[in-house]
Amino acid sequence: IKRITTHTLLEMKQRGEKISMLTAYDYSMAKIVDDAGMDIILVGDSASNVMAGHETTLPITLDQMIYHASSVVRAVKRAFIVVDIPFGSYQGNSSEALRSAIRIMKESGAHSVKVEGGAEIRESVVRILSAGVPVMGHLGLTPQSIYKFGTYTVRAKEEAEAQKLLEDAKMLEECGCFAIVLEKIPAALAKQVAEAVKIPVIGIGAGPHVDGQVLVMHDMLGITKEFKPRFLRQYADLQTVMKDAFQQYIQDVKSKDFPNESESY
Ligand code: KIV
Ligand code: NA
Repeated sequence: IKRITTHTLLEMKQRGEKISMLTAYDYSMAKIVDDAGMDIILVGDSASNVMAGHETTLPITLDQMIYHASSVVRAVKRAFIVVDIPFGSYQGNSSEALRSAIRIMKESGAHSVKVEGGAEIRESVVRILSAGVPVMGHLGLTPQSIYKFGTYTVRAKEEAEAQKLLEDAKMLEECGCFAIVLEKIPAALAKQVAEAVKIPVIGIGAGPHVDGQVLVMHDMLGITKEFKPRFLRQYADLQTVMKDAFQQYIQDVKSKDFPNESESY
């Protein structure tokens, strides 16, 4: 199998082939996602929500991200693997940013890192890139700044914020980022960004006129059901499938149906 690289992804944008991206946080699931043919697997700090049960992405630590990332790396043969640098491990200190990125690369074996923000984190982005670590940007709704925004509503609806987002995207491209995630912004603005930069732009709640799409695994599988923004397309109802299986097992244990003779030694 041929590995997806930053170069492959750039070529996909150039020939208009949409890029598929999904999160994964553990070995077993990452193996299924990779076998399915996903282009990019994101070890997102959404692990803080869907794996650890935190309300936000802020509490997850660098060590915990490295644990998730190394599990994913062991499973994946083809997909390009991106790992979120968690909150507090890169903002406002480019040396720490570089140290965090290097720890992720060395200790997990992943292929790149993702950071949230534009001009504010420029120095950190440049510093990480200088070490030869590919960086994916993330603009629009940036969950690590949720307490600054106050809400999870659509970002950059006002002209000033839209203009800053466009400038940030161009800046990230100029620094050398290999791609940018745009989260929860108007489709028209996302289109403008995707046309303004040569690097792939991956959307989540950013409409169809971008170079690829990303979703959180547990949301698209219907494992988590409390979270249902309009941008989420649910591809399965695993919560029901799993609960039915668990209940069937409970019933079989209680009724002494399980294990039967052929399931015993
Ligand atoms: O952590 C995450 O899952 C993400 C995606 C939503 C882009 O950053
Ligand atoms: Na994230």
